[in-house]
Amino acid sequence: MGSLSQQNEVECKEKTEYANVNWDELEFALTKTDYMYVMNFTQDDGKFSQGTIARFGNIELCPSSGILNYGQGLFEGLKAYRKEDEGILLFRPQENALRMKIGADRMCMPSPTVEQFIDAVKKTVLANKRWVPPHRKGSLYIRPLLMGTGQNLGVKPASEYTFLVYASPVGSYNKAELNLMVEDKVHRATPGGTGGVKAVTNYSPVYKPLTQARAKGFSDVLFLDALTGSNIEEGSACNIFFLKGNVISTPIADGTILPGITRKSIMELASGFGYQVEERVVPLEEALDAEEVFCTGTAMVVKSVASITYQGKRIEYKLGAETVAQKLHATLTGIQTGGIEDKLGWTMAI
Ligand code: COI
Repeated sequence: MGSLSQQNEVECKEKTEYANVNWDELEFALTKTDYMYVMNFTQDDGKFSQGTIARFGNIELCPSSGILNYGQGLFEGLKAYRKEDEGILLFRPQENALRMKIGADRMCMPSPTVEQFIDAVKKTVLANKRWVPPHRKGSLYIRPLLMGTGQNLGVKPASEYTFLVYASPVGSYNKAELNLMVEDKVHRATPGGTGGVKAVTNYSPVYKPLTQARAKGFSDVLFLDALTGSNIEEGSACNIFFLKGNVISTPIADGTILPGITRKSIMELASGFGYQVEERVVPLEEALDAEEVFCTGTAMVVKSVASITYQGKRIEYKLGAETVAQKLHATLTGIQTGGIEDKLGWTMAI
């Protein structure tokens, strides 16, 4: 057995061991990490089996699997942050677990329990600990996937499912100014559809308007509701908020908008700061008349919108250090990284 000082040295080295990454250059892109978590469900067992940590790598799928043929799949997104003392915090993982359960029900899939989900996330983060960026240099983005992996030629729910969790260190989702373009032809979601759950199929249908908007120099599109075409819904991967006076409004999540966990957290923080937070229908004219606009999301965090363009007319909004968005961002990221006391019990130390 080694001496106490040798032991301390080993423990310290392990504690501070980092992967070979240029942490100052992190972007929101995949960096392959060491491990992923895999857990399977078969109809014979009727439940998810004991999951395992496996080396990160490609997976084998039957060409006739439900996910490949009919898009029977969901994903989640959450982050792990390193505190100043090197400890690691997860942010509200129960919320992601619950959202996956709701989504699984909508997509006719079995879902891991909240405990199974959190256990899988913790194991994935701990196995990839050296990839959690240093304090305030980014975060480890965790991507849980739930997919129909059983063979399925006919249109029906798959008979086998896989729950897989992988992770990647990430930096800002969008470093540049956010200039949005209102999309008035393509809709992201329709009432009764799957816009309110994190179905994998919600994303690629927006690539076309998004690519066209980016080609014109915009950062993202802003979708309108499919029924009237006159109310704001959300961006391609973020929720949106509008500030006027003391009122902060955000489109109501009633089935066509993703109920974001950052969105929920920001609503709670803003109410605590004394703003009147209204979750309701937000007409386009009202949005264009706002003083300040910001987007939220796990990937995006909280980011001010510089401008919204609708039918060629560009409206600009307040930016900078004095914005409410900046204040909310500082508080949220302070809680997430352990610099601000977490009085709301949102973080989970692992
Ligand atoms: C997230 O913020 O976790 C998202 O889902 C955005 C992602 C599609 C990049």
